[in-house]
Amino acid sequence: MLDRREFFKSLAMGASAVVLLPQLVACGSKAVNADPTAGADPLAIPTRPPADWDPIAFNKARGNAGAIPESYLPSINGPDGDTQHLGKHLPYIVPVEAGQMPQGMLAIMWGDPAKGYAKHPNAPKSEENPTGHWYNSIKIRKAVDGDAEEQESAYADWPGTGEQFVVFGGGDLSEDSGKNTIYIVGLPSDVSPGDTVRIHAHCLTHGEYVDFIQV
Ligand SMILES: [Fe+2]
Repeated sequence: MLDRREFFKSLAMGASAVVLLPQLVACGSKAVNADPTAGADPLAIPTRPPADWDPIAFNKARGNAGAIPESYLPSINGPDGDTQHLGKHLPYIVPVEAGQMPQGMLAIMWGDPAKGYAKHPNAPKSEENPTGHWYNSIKIRKAVDGDAEEQESAYADWPGTGEQFVVFGGGDLSEDSGKNTIYIVGLPSDVSPGDTVRIHAHCLTHGEYVDFIQV
């Protein structure tokens, strides 16, 4: 395993994307959905993926129940809502060479083109969108019942002042509407390669999304 500095140095030499470094804001153990009546809450999220897990259907229902801003509901419920709006907000792991990631970190992007989803753009705060458009919070938890550590990575700004980012290959963070931004997220210490984790993330403009992926 490389340490974090060596990792970003190695990326700076070869790749053509941008890495956004998180601030790890929370690292503790807490029960999630320990309340047996939690199933009645339309905003509740499962600790493990059900056998029939369908992230598009789940996030559509939860979004309409309040997890997604009202202004975006016509888009997610529209004819291209699954691929252009819901799928666009689902995480996928970016292939990084084995041994290139620092221990305890994971590289993810949003909207997997391999599944036909639109790539999620990123944008700074502006007059048109004073809140900005990026993921400001990504929480990761091992997908198990009972108590588990949940690690939250927070992103205060995009593109930020420079210290949060590594631009590699001379690439520009804002190119292609920021769609090449890779988020490096912290993994809870109880997660091992091969485990399934729950990703519960918040897009500043479009609300909360939940999915499970194998790391
Ligand atoms: Fe978004």
